[in-house]
Amino acid sequence: MGLDLWHEGARIITVAGLPPIGCLPIVITVFSGEPLTNRRCIDRFSTVAINYNFYLQKELDLMQNSLAHLGSKIFYLDVYNPVYEIILDHRRFGFEEVSRGCCGIGYLEASVLCNPKSYVCPNTSAYVFFDSIHPSEKTYFILFKALRPIIDSFLSSF
Ligand SMILES: *[C@@H]1O[C@H](CO)[C@@H](O)[C@H](O)[C@H]1NC(C)=O
Repeated sequence: MGLDLWHEGARIITVAGLPPIGCLPIVITVFSGEPLTNRRCIDRFSTVAINYNFYLQKELDLMQNSLAHLGSKIFYLDVYNPVYEIILDHRRFGFEEVSRGCCGIGYLEASVLCNPKSYVCPNTSAYVFFDSIHPSEKTYFILFKALRPIIDSFLSSF
């Protein structure tokens, strides 16, 4: 994959890891067992993401070694920890709702189920998630601010 991207002209490649998937509203709804009353993160799913991220980093290190002589760099970008911090401490970031999406009833809707006819909550900024899978614009912006110095350091190391 690294070499294919290099042939396309890429010289700085950043690969983001997985977020804490056990905290996605849709995962909580499907696997909580009591989706209306127990909307806590489900750790066993987030553990899968942690393991995936671990092997992803190893794989990216190997790719980096095979691309180094070509003057190319591959970076792993940790989104798990900043997203988890927002979820755990959502009130400190100004959010009111963390386990439901803003679109629809917030438990299941995503993709085509969120469409121009869907109900949308009055204040998107109060929600960590816009739909049952995707972060809201405010969450993305906080994430961007958390990642910006890291991305800048990638660029300046090149
Ligand atoms: C929307 O929610 C955020 C976070 O709770 C709050 O800071 C903001 O004042 C709200 N905006 C409106 C228009 O209610």
